[in-house]
Amino acid sequence: MWALASSFFLLWLCPRIAFFSGPGTVSASSPSAARFWRQRDTRIAPKVFLIGMFGSEGDAWHGIPDFNVLERNISVPGFSPRFPDAHCTKNGDICQLVTDEGEINAASTIAALVHSPLFNLTQTYFFIAGIAGISPKMGTLGSATFARYAVQVALQFEIDGREKPADFSTGYIPQGSTSPSQYPQTIYGTEVYEVNNDLRALAIAFAQTAVLADDTPSQQYRRQYSSRPEFAHGAAPPAVIPCDTATADVFWSGELLSTAFEHAVALFTNRTAAYCTSQQEDSATLGALLRGALARRVDFARVLVMRTVSDFDRPADGQTAAANLFAGTPGFEVAIKNIAAAGVPVVNAIVAQWETRFRAGVPASNYIGDIWGSLGGTPDFGPGSIFGGKPALAHRGQARPTRDV
Ligand SMILES: *[C@@H]1O[C@H](CO)[C@@H](O)[C@H](O)[C@H]1NC(C)=O
Ligand SMILES: *[C@@H]1O[C@H](CO)[C@@H](O)[C@H](O)[C@H]1NC(C)=O
Ligand SMILES: *[C@@H]1O[C@H](CO)[C@@H](O)[C@H](O)[C@H]1NC(C)=O
Repeated sequence: MWALASSFFLLWLCPRIAFFSGPGTVSASSPSAARFWRQRDTRIAPKVFLIGMFGSEGDAWHGIPDFNVLERNISVPGFSPRFPDAHCTKNGDICQLVTDEGEINAASTIAALVHSPLFNLTQTYFFIAGIAGISPKMGTLGSATFARYAVQVALQFEIDGREKPADFSTGYIPQGSTSPSQYPQTIYGTEVYEVNNDLRALAIAFAQTAVLADDTPSQQYRRQYSSRPEFAHGAAPPAVIPCDTATADVFWSGELLSTAFEHAVALFTNRTAAYCTSQQEDSATLGALLRGALARRVDFARVLVMRTVSDFDRPADGQTAAANLFAGTPGFEVAIKNIAAAGVPVVNAIVAQWETRFRAGVPASNYIGDIWGSLGGTPDFGPGSIFGGKPALAHRGQARPTRDV
């Protein structure tokens, strides 16, 4: 018993030594290891974890009046060397991290987080909050978008457009398929993630109480889109909107690639998703969170995907794709400002309504999870569950539904 208790003491002590000057003593007479662990567990259990992808997205949460995530810095093994710390409020209710950019950085950082012994994340709401490009058919610079689906659009075959068959609309062809319009025949499992639509609806309602920032550079840039009726939303003032997101490591610009990926979003989700934003990480972050849910360390029903808009995915009439790309991010300032503008009401609501609503979880009335049905249920896209509608067994014989139903 002493040996068991001492090894738990060591386990307990190591991650905590950074936070406490005097960890106290441990009695060898602890009745059982399980009870010992429960009693001594002081891991940080955030109510909200804010996930940004580069420095400015993280900084968006610093220096705001509502809460101070720089009260406690926790270095987490496996985070990016450029962003090695999680930042938390003193009471640990709200934490924030930066994954670093692109799919590999995002998946690696979030995998390190979900398996970190420093945190208890079983009830944590993960709030992806970054900037993105947008289709001018759907929204404009400064808009705050909340996604239900994230689609990995560049996970495809590719032929350079100059060599594609004449009757193909694009050089991108779903894997294992022989035409751009055929559903992917070779599936990796990361193509589509679907998150809790009921939680998303609540978040949108909270975010809609915000006054979004707008500025002259954004107004001037978006005015270029006013000449085409289908780009009316692109030329209008920023708003909080529900629409879906496309992940690709390639930062593209152009009518042809945007149309191809818009079609990929519709195809992969069986025409359920409405593509609006393009970014480089969300599918990767969701993939790592889904693995965390399978390992019973996080609840996949507690994920929000917000992207505010810094640029357009395609040019305005009379503009080239290159001119739009090299204009950079004309809405950068408003996009960064609106991360906190739209996000703080969401964070505040989760913390304020913790006991009455959020601790227990917001039941998802839609399917949540991946294309394989790994968390149980029947996906509303793709070929159907390969686990017969039941959760996959992450640990032999220990399946558990991760939805709050
Ligand atoms: C946490 O780190 C930030 C810089 O990343 C720093 O400004 C802040 O003072 C640090 N907080 C503490 C409590 O050391
Ligand atoms: C993590 O937190 C939850 C909720 O407070 C608690 O039920 C659970 O026992 C904790 N997990 C561990 C391993 O301490
Ligand atoms: C999605 O579309 C593909 C291709 O048409 C089809 O095979 C699959 O059954 C559809 N899935 C659902 C859930 O409707």
